[in-house]
Amino acid sequence: MNPVRSSHIKKPFIARRSIPFIKKASNGANITGKTKILGIFGRPISHTLSPAMHNAVMKALGLDMVYLPFEVKPSNLRGAVKGIKSLGMIGVNITTPHKEAVIKFLDSISEDVKLIGAVNTIVNKNGQLIGHNTDGYGYIASLKEELGFNPKGKKMVILGAGGAARGIIIALAAKKPKSITVANRTLSRAISLIKTFKGKFSGIAFQAIGLDGENLRAYFEDTNLLINTTSVGMKKNEALKIPLDALPKRTIVSDIIYNPLETALLKKAAKLGLATHPGLGMLIHQGALSFKLWTGIDAPIDIMRKAALKALKMGGGR
Ligand SMILES: NC(=O)c1ccc[n+]([C@@H]2O[C@H](COP(=O)([O-])OP(=O)(O)OC[C@H]3O[C@@H](n4cnc5c(N)ncnc54)[C@H](OP(=O)(O)O)[C@@H]3O)[C@@H](O)[C@H]2O)c1
Repeated sequence: MNPVRSSHIKKPFIARRSIPFIKKASNGANITGKTKILGIFGRPISHTLSPAMHNAVMKALGLDMVYLPFEVKPSNLRGAVKGIKSLGMIGVNITTPHKEAVIKFLDSISEDVKLIGAVNTIVNKNGQLIGHNTDGYGYIASLKEELGFNPKGKKMVILGAGGAARGIIIALAAKKPKSITVANRTLSRAISLIKTFKGKFSGIAFQAIGLDGENLRAYFEDTNLLINTTSVGMKKNEALKIPLDALPKRTIVSDIIYNPLETALLKKAAKLGLATHPGLGMLIHQGALSFKLWTGIDAPIDIMRKAALKALKMGGGR
């Protein structure tokens, strides 16, 4: 019998154009029988930067783990969460639109999540699913890393009263700022948010106001930190109409939107000579804190940042 030579084996035909994702798909070369699985549930999910950040860290640290994106419809969320246990996953991140809805499927939630009402990280601890939120702490860590800012005794204005604002307020309040003013388009939402926090944190002056342009001027005059947590700015050249010129020169203007990397709001602030803080750092640090919850390991921030920037350049983050 003639030996079978590799040149005799017919290669399968793969029509690359008909399977667009095949070009850059992972080939699974590093997957073993012991590989542990992490991931992110959301919808849409193809834009997420988290797999790039986490897989880069796992590779750098030589961990036998993989982090995968899962597109989960709201009607499939319960099943997907059950799957974390069934498949023995270490945990997952949760993103839009599931951060609030996922809570009812978990075994327990952290004290912070009870106040925030949103989860971005699930840890599978011996078959018990615990919900955490690392967004706000990631935000504070990024402010400290990039600008050395300590919120203690400072005055801050937060634009927006959604899930991200709630996470950031919890983390800021723990650092004992002097005051937190929440300005939101829907005033009733800002009022209800402030009500939740007022009783929990003494010594901080909380107030809720409307997000109407010139009326903000009086609140801006002695602000140390202005944070945009609204979704306005995700489109190029789109910015809230607010009187940035009323801010003192020492004010930091922060925008948690990370795509575009420098929003129109930050460009305007920089032109006025104000210090700026873009949203990518928050994304990186919330990821690092999730990673610590799952593995107990401090993720190398520089590796996460490099991977996130590379993924953004390749069209992620939308
Ligand atoms: N960097 C990060 O790691 C990170 C993490 C989480 C979120 N984010 C970003 O943060 C943003 C908000 O996220 P979220 O989860 O808090 O969303 P959310 O819960 O839907 O809240 C959205 C907020 O934006 C306000 N808003 C929306 N459109 C507006 C408009 N045209 N004018 C004025 N205000 C408007 C809403 O005001 P109303 O109450 O009046 O509707 C609300 O306060 C998103 O852009 C998200 O990508 C970034």
